[in-house]
Amino acid sequence: MIYLDHNATTPVLPEVLEAMMPYFTSEWGNPSSTYKFGSKLKSVIETAREQVAELIGAQSREIIFTSCGTESNNTAIHAALQANPGKRHIVTSAVEHSSVLNYCLALEKEGYRVTYLPVDREGLLKFADLEEAITDETALVSLMWANNETGILFPVTEIAQVCRTRGVLFHCDAVQVAGKVPINVRTPPLDYLSLTGHKFHAPKGIGALYVRRHTPVKPYLHGGHQERNLRGGTENVALIVGNGQSRRVSH
Ligand SMILES: Cc1ncc(COP(=O)(O)O)c(C=O)c1O
Repeated sequence: MIYLDHNATTPVLPEVLEAMMPYFTSEWGNPSSTYKFGSKLKSVIETAREQVAELIGAQSREIIFTSCGTESNNTAIHAALQANPGKRHIVTSAVEHSSVLNYCLALEKEGYRVTYLPVDREGLLKFADLEEAITDETALVSLMWANNETGILFPVTEIAQVCRTRGVLFHCDAVQVAGKVPINVRTPPLDYLSLTGHKFHAPKGIGALYVRRHTPVKPYLHGGHQERNLRGGTENVALIVGNGQSRRVSH
């Protein structure tokens, strides 16, 4: 078989698997434990966080590990809405991944208004549509960087600048770009950026959300103190290590 669909998923590379193995076998402690067998794994998680941060030019404290790109997207949208309780409007596009579109559809049922920007025959957005769609009621613009079906790249830097000028939070689903096209979150002034490991040689079931420092963020999964109280749930140390390692091998 010649596999040509790395937009659907990528294989776990041998180096990534090798780096993960100890955390399935001998180092299986819980990082939240008060004793060393578990707590020593905290530094392992922090190393992976630095590696993922480096992939996108972020600071490690701006990275939250999640279970997938879907969770990252849902968390970002949820955080922006929680931060703006008086604003009930979201701008997105008609060609987003279902993890954005179906969440927006659910939000419409809760009374939010959602604008789904159309794309033209080339799959491109009309910039004027975006500028027109943003109102004083808009809490968030959520637009992808690369489309999972067509590979079309949206002009993220320009979008981020418009959002910044208009004072609206901007979330970017960068799941299809990370590991393929260089990303530096300092250049487009975006607020949230979603990643998922399985698109760049980590296993399925590990994702990350970048949240710019000082951008509002709230947990989507309420639970323990993991991820600085921002994402409850015992950390999947092996997959987190795999995510960090895949960043190293894919560049
Ligand atoms: C653009 C885009 N966003 C989000 C996702 C969801 O990622 P995950 O499968 O890790 O939930 C995908 C997965 O195909 C995707 O292509």
